[in-house]
Amino acid sequence: MHVLITGGAGFIGSHLADFYLSEGQQVTVLDNLSTGNLANIEGILAGINFVTGDIRDSKTVNELVSSSDLVLHMAAYLGVKNIMENTLESIDSNFMGSEVVLKAATKHKKRIILASTSEIYGKNSQQPLHEESDRVVGAPQMIRWTYSDSKALEEASAYVMHNRFGLPVTTARFFNTVGPRQTGQYGMVIPRFVQAALSNEDLLVYGDGTQSRVFCHVSDVVNAVNLVANDDRTIGDYFNVGGVGEISIMELAQRIIEMTGSKSRIKPVDYSEAYAAGFEDMQRRVPDITKIANSVGWKPSKNLDNILADVINFFQSRLQSWL
Ligand SMILES: NC(=O)c1ccc[n+]([C@@H]2O[C@H](COP(=O)([O-])OP(=O)(O)OC[C@H]3O[C@@H](n4cnc5c(N)ncnc54)[C@H](O)[C@@H]3O)[C@@H](O)[C@H]2O)c1
Repeated sequence: MHVLITGGAGFIGSHLADFYLSEGQQVTVLDNLSTGNLANIEGILAGINFVTGDIRDSKTVNELVSSSDLVLHMAAYLGVKNIMENTLESIDSNFMGSEVVLKAATKHKKRIILASTSEIYGKNSQQPLHEESDRVVGAPQMIRWTYSDSKALEEASAYVMHNRFGLPVTTARFFNTVGPRQTGQYGMVIPRFVQAALSNEDLLVYGDGTQSRVFCHVSDVVNAVNLVANDDRTIGDYFNVGGVGEISIMELAQRIIEMTGSKSRIKPVDYSEAYAAGFEDMQRRVPDITKIANSVGWKPSKNLDNILADVINFFQSRLQSWL
């Protein structure tokens, strides 16, 4: 089988590339290296077909999609900080780019898995969030939600392309996914905290830190993608993919300080200092994962301590390799 991974030099995409290669599949990665990093795939570069390019380039996308059997569409502009700072580029890349990929998959009748996000639920306070939960987002000028809007439109397009033209698509809504290779550069909380803790720098907690999240290990996400991709009963459907065990951001900071034995202190920072105007956060984000469990038997195997240990290990070994 030939697997095309858009965004395959990124965090989740590179773990998918490792997995499919280890399964003996042929892998092609298309990535413009905007938030991705060649270092993520340097260990497998010799074994895959790596194409530097943009998902908005219809000619390249059509060529690559037509010669693949399975498309894993992971490419996206993401990270709250990135979206706030590069809004127009992110809307263009996420919405227009995904249209190109979805149309190519429709034209060439290819199986495709679409990476969506828990952000589509916005600030809906009715938790846990299940697949039919409402989207509750702020005014268009609250720029944070443009990512949510682009992803929601992407999902809607995929849904219509499935219903009208038979596109064999399954949508996976990832909740906070974490693991080795994720960068803290674009605002992701665990790599940001771990890097700060390992350098004994302050851990910046935005707001009062009572906001909570549930984290999922990237290896569990890879397993979920593989399970839905292998099961044609999931075609046309959409699933939450997330972890278990809710934790407040303040408790998370404390846990990371403990696990790293760090001398760091926790420093609360007002949201207005952390982000430009046009930012609002959601208090909780808890996935209901009953649907994917019932459908393909998936559930996460790693808990928060496993996740944190892996991320701490990753950054510790990176630090050591620099010394
Ligand atoms: N990490 C998470 O917690 C999380 C949560 C929800 C959803 N997701 C979704 O999962 C997918 C993968 O996310 P990730 O965490 O691996 O992020 P990432 O930034 O590490 O990976 C995205 C990759 O896409 C590439 N890319 C971006 N725009 C592109 C374009 N126009 N053309 C070609 N390549 C492009 C980037 O260079 C990068 O390698 C994304 O679709 C994201 O929206 C991730």
